[in-house]
Amino acid sequence: MITKDIKFAKEILLNDDLVAIPTETVYGLAGNAFSEIAIKKIFHLKQRPFYNPLIVHLKSASSVFEIAAEIPDSAKKLMEEFWPGPLTLVLKKQDHISDLITAGKSTVAVRVPSHPMTLALLNELDFPLTAPSANPFGSISPTNATHVHDYFGNKIDAILDGGQCEKGLESTIIGFEGNQPILYRLGAISTEEIEAKIGKLVFHRNNNTSPNAPGMLSRHYAPKTSTYLSNNVAEYIKQFEGKKIGVLVFKEPIQNDNLIIQEVLSTSGNFMEAAKNLYAAMHRLDQHHLDLIVIEELPNTDLGKTINDKLVRATKKE
Ligand code: TXA
Ligand code: MG
Repeated sequence: MITKDIKFAKEILLNDDLVAIPTETVYGLAGNAFSEIAIKKIFHLKQRPFYNPLIVHLKSASSVFEIAAEIPDSAKKLMEEFWPGPLTLVLKKQDHISDLITAGKSTVAVRVPSHPMTLALLNELDFPLTAPSANPFGSISPTNATHVHDYFGNKIDAILDGGQCEKGLESTIIGFEGNQPILYRLGAISTEEIEAKIGKLVFHRNNNTSPNAPGMLSRHYAPKTSTYLSNNVAEYIKQFEGKKIGVLVFKEPIQNDNLIIQEVLSTSGNFMEAAKNLYAAMHRLDQHHLDLIVIEELPNTDLGKTINDKLVRATKKE
C-alpha cells in the first residue's frame, strides 16, 4: 500500500520485510542491511541476479565508519561536498557486511540519501537500509510511488510516498584504486562537478558477464516497447509510416500529425529539468501500446552525458 506513515514502515522493516522508499534520485526497494532474510527478499522480488551488489543507505556520513574499513582522502572530500546527496562511494568493506550485499566483493557501496522522509525513517532505525532501485531487474527506474505500485502492487507491504524524485537519475558511483577515483556509473552528479573537487576521473571499463556496476550492463533501464535512439527524430520516424509511434525529445517538439504521443523533457533545454522528467516520460510512453518509441539523443555534456548513457542502454542497437 502507498502510505506516508514512517512508523508503519519501521514496523515492517523490523520484521525483516521490505518497504519502498523515496530518495532524491529514484525510489528504492529497502530492507534491513544487517538482515540476510531481508536482503534475500530484495533479490527475490526484484528478480535480480546475485552477482549484482546493492547500495547501503546511511542516515549520516559518520555512520560510514560502521560499514567501511578504509576511506581514501578523495572519498572524504566527496562525502563532505555531496552527502547527503546522489553520490555512491564504493569502499573497502568491514567483515560483518553480508556477502549478499556486496556480491562477494571486498568492497561495499554506500550513500547518504537526501530525501527528508527517508532520512526521517533512517533516524528511527538502528540499522542502515540496503536498497536497489524499486523496479524489476533491467526495467525503467521508478520516480514516483505509483511507478513502484505499478511494478509490484501489494507484493511490497508499504510504499512510502515522498512525491516525485527531485533528481530523477540514479546516484553517480565512484570507487577508488588507492586514492585514484574511478567512475563506475554516470549519475545525477555530473563528472564535471566531481572532477572540480578531486581531479580527473578514470572511467571504469567492465564487461557484461562480470559487471562491477551492472547499472552499466548494456541493456538496462529498458521500456517494454521497442525503443530507438536518434539524433534526428523527425527524419528517423519517416521510415515507420503507418506505425503507432511515440517520441521523446529534449526541448523542441517535432511537427508530425501522425504521432500518438510526444513527450518534451525541458522546453528551456535545462538538463536538470530533463533528468527529473525522463523516467516518468518513458513510463508514460511505455503505457501507450505503441509499435515503437523514438528518443532524441541529448547534447553530450553535463547531465546530458548521464541521460544519453541511460538512453543507450534503454534502446535497441541497430
Ligand atoms: O540512486 C541510486 O543509487 C538508487 C537509490 C535507490 O539509492 N539505487 C540504485 O541501486 O540505483 P541499483 O541497485 O539499481 O544500482 C546499484 C549499482 C549497481 O550498478 C551495482 O552494481 C553498483 O551499484 N554497486 C553496488 N555495490 C558495488 C560494489 N561493491 N562495487 C561496484 N559497484 C557496486
Ligand atoms: Mg537499478
